[in-house]
Amino acid sequence: MEEKKLSKGWKKSLRDEIDQIQPYIPGKPISEVKAELGLKEVIKLASNENPLPVSQKVKKALKEEMDSINLYPDGASRKFKKVLCEHLNLDNEMVAVGNGSDGLIKVIGETFLNNNSQVIISYPSFVEYKFIANLMGSDIIRVWTKDYQQNLAGIQNAVSSRTNMIFLTSPDNPTGSIIKRNELEKFLKKIPDDVLVILDQAYYEYVQDEDYVDGIEYIKKGYPLIVLRTFSKAYGLAGLRLGYAVADPEIIGSLMKARDPFNVNRLAQAAGRAVLNDKKFLEQTIENNEQGKKFLYNEFEKMGMDYVPTEANFILVNVKTNSGELFENMLKKGVIIRPGKPLGYPGHIRVTIGLPEENKKFIKVLKEELK
Ligand SMILES: Cc1ncc(COP(=O)(O)O)c(C=O)c1O
Repeated sequence: MEEKKLSKGWKKSLRDEIDQIQPYIPGKPISEVKAELGLKEVIKLASNENPLPVSQKVKKALKEEMDSINLYPDGASRKFKKVLCEHLNLDNEMVAVGNGSDGLIKVIGETFLNNNSQVIISYPSFVEYKFIANLMGSDIIRVWTKDYQQNLAGIQNAVSSRTNMIFLTSPDNPTGSIIKRNELEKFLKKIPDDVLVILDQAYYEYVQDEDYVDGIEYIKKGYPLIVLRTFSKAYGLAGLRLGYAVADPEIIGSLMKARDPFNVNRLAQAAGRAVLNDKKFLEQTIENNEQGKKFLYNEFEKMGMDYVPTEANFILVNVKTNSGELFENMLKKGVIIRPGKPLGYPGHIRVTIGLPEENKKFIKVLKEELK
């Protein structure tokens, strides 16, 4: 058959929104870095994953579930949702589960945004909020953080009759700073009823500060709020993609219309059930994070380096140097971190708190490179 060269005719149908989106650049996987640089040992402290070995209860549940992966998952995730709702002490209708928080952010956008919408995003913050607003063709108002904190007063001032949605993150990424109870309460009271506030609490389980607030409280008090949580961080299931949204039942009902029919796979549902029953795993996770945090703070202080106190499992550090170059040099020595520039903080790096030996290696290599 004669070969035909693909014409560019298909571009006629390409949405302008897609043309303008910058593809997400994920952290490099360990295997790729090893192969590329010929390294035997590589540690990844770049994507805020849980460094502990996977929960034994999860492994067992996954083995059992493997025999059924020829069958579709339960589209309503009934068994998993039952365990989750018991854990949260919430009615089933107040919870939607999804393919990670990312999947839920997309469903939220597809449910509520279009090219007449206006979205307020604290900046710099997690990139997916901008992505979904761009994908839906919505206008974005960026309100810059102040001293590594989300500027709630600035966000409130930016609200107009055109505003549909506000994204907040607590703990925030990449700073690790939180929104305190009195700040959230004051803020929510001033936001008009027709503006949906999305409060992303991906790092909720790590928080130690007593002034932190569980956003679900305010959903129960009737505020137009959607709280997002994930199993990718403290629960150690990033590779399976599992997250949930909590909101008023009618809001959840609307999200359910826009989601994929089987948006949480079988293995994720089984692992989610198992890990919620593994209290020890969560305790060990928090213990490791607290110990690692102390160790790293101490090392940064000895090195005279400023860092942002964190309530999450990562630390933003002011390295006062070209962090892109530092990233490349540390990579060559088998330590993957995140350079600050793409995260909105040039001159900084973001490092995930790892296992004790990983933290030590990170500090050793950091010292060598900053000499
Ligand atoms: C603030 C925040 N929200 C959401 C996510 C994504 O979570 P998930 O893995 O559930 O999609 C991340 C991941 O880094 C994050 O930092």
